[in-house]
Amino acid sequence: MQKKRVAVLISGRGSNMMALIEAAKKPSYPAEIALVLSNRPDAAGLSRAQAAGIASAIIDHAAYGRDRECFERAMQKVLDQYGIDLVCLAGFMRLLTPWFVSRWEARMLNIHPALLPAFKGLDTHQRALSSGVKIHGASVHFVAAEMDCGPIVAQGALAVREDDDAQTLAARVLEVEHRIYPMALGLLAAGRVRLVGGRCVIDGGVSTQNTLIVPESDDR
Ligand code: GRF
Repeated sequence: MQKKRVAVLISGRGSNMMALIEAAKKPSYPAEIALVLSNRPDAAGLSRAQAAGIASAIIDHAAYGRDRECFERAMQKVLDQYGIDLVCLAGFMRLLTPWFVSRWEARMLNIHPALLPAFKGLDTHQRALSSGVKIHGASVHFVAAEMDCGPIVAQGALAVREDDDAQTLAARVLEVEHRIYPMALGLLAAGRVRLVGGRCVIDGGVSTQNTLIVPESDDR
């Protein structure tokens, strides 16, 4: 099996990046993390990637001013250099132009800390709490031109607790993220994700262990 070469794009701490790096250590995993690319020179994830022995690159968006496409062309050049097949956005805090998105159509994933299509955008945990939802979670989806849209590959959900605040909820959702992102990338890299009428169909189905309500050991 030829492993897919993956670039993980980050802007910050890189915990999802680390979950992908860990998963990709398994010999049977169908993808290898070939590159970590950050748009911020000070992203904490960069040193974590380096410590894990993963090649990294910095394309500082600030150097390109308002010219987003020029910034993306610089990223594309590095992605080409590394022979990248798939891109994973993992806390990558730049909006992408239609040019870049269409170049990576059906080959670029994002992780969003909410059950899409609810709570697109920022501050998802506080908004979930304020709205009173009882179930919250995370979604991995293909990147489309519109932010936090695009066909959903995997979701993981958990129960909101009465005493949750945005921080406690975020911490539990982050654990869900670390389960579903490696799973979704694995499915895509193995060629098991098909787009049918704008929706993802997973060949062979998936275990509900990661995709439905994530069971909590201390459920009350
Ligand atoms: C995660 O919550 C992810 O869902 C969102 O940004 C955060 C990134 O965290 N898109 P990390 O850098 O992966 O730790």
